[in-house]
Amino acid sequence: MTITNDIKYIGVNDHNIDLFEGQYIVPNGMAYNSYAIIDEKIAIMDTVDGNFTDEWLSNLKEALGTRKPDYLIVQHMEPDHSANIMNFVVEYPEAKIVASAKAFVMMKNFFGTDFSDKQIVVGEGDTLSLGKHNLTFVTAPMVHWPEVIVTYDSTDKVLFSADGFGKFGALDVEEDWACEARRYYIGIVGKYGMPVQTLLKKATNLDIDTICPLHGPILNDNLEYYINLYNIWSSYQPEEEGVMIAYTSVYGNTKKAVEELAKKLEANGCPKVVVNDLARCDMAEAVEDAFRYSKLVLATTTYNGDIFPFMREFINHLTERNYSNRTVGFIENGSWAPTATKVMMGMLEKSKNLTYMTTNVKLMSALSEDSLKQIEELSKELC
Ligand code: FEO
Repeated sequence: MTITNDIKYIGVNDHNIDLFEGQYIVPNGMAYNSYAIIDEKIAIMDTVDGNFTDEWLSNLKEALGTRKPDYLIVQHMEPDHSANIMNFVVEYPEAKIVASAKAFVMMKNFFGTDFSDKQIVVGEGDTLSLGKHNLTFVTAPMVHWPEVIVTYDSTDKVLFSADGFGKFGALDVEEDWACEARRYYIGIVGKYGMPVQTLLKKATNLDIDTICPLHGPILNDNLEYYINLYNIWSSYQPEEEGVMIAYTSVYGNTKKAVEELAKKLEANGCPKVVVNDLARCDMAEAVEDAFRYSKLVLATTTYNGDIFPFMREFINHLTERNYSNRTVGFIENGSWAPTATKVMMGMLEKSKNLTYMTTNVKLMSALSEDSLKQIEELSKELC
């Protein structure tokens, strides 16, 4: 794949992966992107996952023909991109490695060497000329590891954005960008909104025609759309008006209350109602939905003096990703001493700028006249 006259795609698609980063299901696989900038000097932008050494080296050789790379630019040391650094060095011992100082420390930890005879250490604003192409390095710490740099090619106006603007899904599968980019962003980078905001501010000073991320498609039209979504996500603002109801239910009674609430919200004309059963859905999708919509209802049972484990896990996912700036309502169930709402509110104390509904729904085992009235009230408050 040719990106510009001088920039070629040499990445790979992974359809064998079971869980990306050990936890995320990726029904449409994953792409590990890598690029070759072919000029008087040749730079390779990152390597790929360790299961694709031969395919990547073969792509690289095909793109370069008889020539050999002069530089391997390592923007990010997570192994989905860095696993083949040693294989590259064995294949091309003359090439230099360009990376941040922190990345070289990580190389020593991963490979037992920091390649001291090949090092070119770069930091904020440093440049590298390949001939016609001038590269500028921009530090992007915690997007989403501390050693990350992104690289701007001012000649072709290309930003190599490391994990930024990446998504789940292999490149040979057509799918909506935002859905899997959002699940990827919230799940993997979501905690690091401030560093992403810092990077976005730096990017506003660059004239960008094309974004080349390390995952997902190359972006070369309507870049404002993608940058705007990144701005919303990283500033923890809701992307859409709507209510996301996350629930757990042991015997179906809490579920009935949730269904009743969803029905009433729809009857009230709520623009969007999304329901997730936390024991059965993809947790990462539920977390994504919580960040996507403006309002959240948490419905769960009191369990072992606490709350049902899937709900505890869900709220932990939210708070560790700085969930904030939303409206939240509660439904609790408990056959003898319901305390779930108190526990959930306590967990959310870590979150900033949450608005709580005045009506909390309390079930003593099953729906009753009282709890149905509370659901009616809650639905009016929410929508
Ligand atoms: Fe795609 Fe943070 O590695």
